[in-house]
Amino acid sequence: MAGSARQYHITTFGCQMNKADSERMAGILDTMGLSWTDDPYAADVVLYNTCTIRDNAEQKVYSYLGRQAKRKHENPELTLIVAGCVAQQEGEALLRRVPELDLVMGPQHANRLQDLLEQVFDGNQVVATEEVDIMEDITKPRRDSTITAWVNVIYGCNERCTYCVVPGVRGVEQSRTPEAIRAEMEELGRQGFKEVTLLGQNIDAYGRDLPGSTTDGRHQHTFTDLLYFVHDVPSIERIRFATSHPRYFTERLIRACAELPKVCEHFHIPFQSGDNDVLKAMARGYTHEKYRRIIDTVRRYMPDAAISADAIVGFPGETEEQFQHTLDLVNDIAFDQLNTAAYSPRPGTPAALWENQLSEEVKSDRLQRLNHLVNTKAAERSQRYAGRIEEVLVEAINPKDPTQVMGRTRGNRLAFFAGDFATLKGELVKVKITEVRPFSLTGEPIQALVTAG
Ligand code: SAH
Ligand code: SF4
Ligand code: F3S
Repeated sequence: MAGSARQYHITTFGCQMNKADSERMAGILDTMGLSWTDDPYAADVVLYNTCTIRDNAEQKVYSYLGRQAKRKHENPELTLIVAGCVAQQEGEALLRRVPELDLVMGPQHANRLQDLLEQVFDGNQVVATEEVDIMEDITKPRRDSTITAWVNVIYGCNERCTYCVVPGVRGVEQSRTPEAIRAEMEELGRQGFKEVTLLGQNIDAYGRDLPGSTTDGRHQHTFTDLLYFVHDVPSIERIRFATSHPRYFTERLIRACAELPKVCEHFHIPFQSGDNDVLKAMARGYTHEKYRRIIDTVRRYMPDAAISADAIVGFPGETEEQFQHTLDLVNDIAFDQLNTAAYSPRPGTPAALWENQLSEEVKSDRLQRLNHLVNTKAAERSQRYAGRIEEVLVEAINPKDPTQVMGRTRGNRLAFFAGDFATLKGELVKVKITEVRPFSLTGEPIQALVTAG
């Protein structure tokens, strides 16, 4: 029943986990004999991989679903799938809201797509949202890039930040074994990939759930151990990781990053707020002083390290003065990049039930003021690149100027330079930076470091 050149389309919302899940689900659909189409309105199988981190992320998917549901009335053969975090959060309720759906599947079920879809092709409407042990990934993902790849190291999150839906929708922490992770990276190396980003919602928690770990914090499988275990995978030239939690970010990890040449000097360590009382209400488990110490330590080992983070403004009860503390932190640390968001009350999270919610006006005013500061600081941070020689991994053609290629510096700044993509693809090139913008750079190539394999 599956097969015969049916076409599928996947639209992905949300974070890198969802992107990685989508690549694996696409790999499964390829293996089943379906073929990819860019056009969601031409596809026979349409999958929305959804995000529910904030209300606007959730609402997006309903408008797409409305259009597809109409299409299904004209074409009953159309298969409609909602995967990801909205699917997990809403479950059966989604079927009541959009009865045209064939399959509602939570993120823990991504690797089971074939099995679930076969049940659908047998005529069932399927909801798969129960907590399961995530199946080891035996599929061949259909990766968006041929140069850079995501590799999951830990699924789920055991934290309980009071604003956050992730633990509810992604379930408890489940680490993959170091052997499985290394094997996936070795395969990527053989396929010609040059850069791997190791993924986890709270990557520093890696290993606590693995057999052989002890509960006193002296377990044998920490994320730092994992870095030492995988850092020498042949052909992989760069290793990145995200997301780090300030509570668990150790000096041992920082030292490992400084020591291991393939690990890039870029750290994504969300702080969420610069005020200790707000941090406490968020249940983040650290103070702004501790956060500042972590960044100081990172910069002591790697003076030029790029630092990025996430922050929330307008958390329930946040006063103007407390918000100022966030501005102070951003001003003092000077992030290379900061993802900012106005607090959005989410179903099933404690903070959504509190009575001290702020108005939309206050939240959006604070968001604008924070974003303004972020741009100013990023522009300042970019200045340090002017005239410098940076190593750029060539990933693509500059979509705005086909005579240029684009890639990233080790610090994760987007960089452009003149060159032919066909010859430079996947190369590490030394580039002299001639133009700086807040979030990107332009330069001239000096030489290619590594010759194409
Ligand atoms: N695991 C990561 C973050 C995952 S969610 C961490 O612990 O930092 C990505 C970002 O979305 C968060 O860092 C936070 O800044 C933002 N976010 C999460 N819940 C939110 C909410 N209810 N309202 C606004 N922003 C939120
Ligand atoms: Fe959410 Fe906190 Fe877990 Fe990050 S650490 S995913 S913010 S609960
Ligand atoms: Fe969104 Fe789920 Fe990621 S809620 S941010 S897609 S974990």
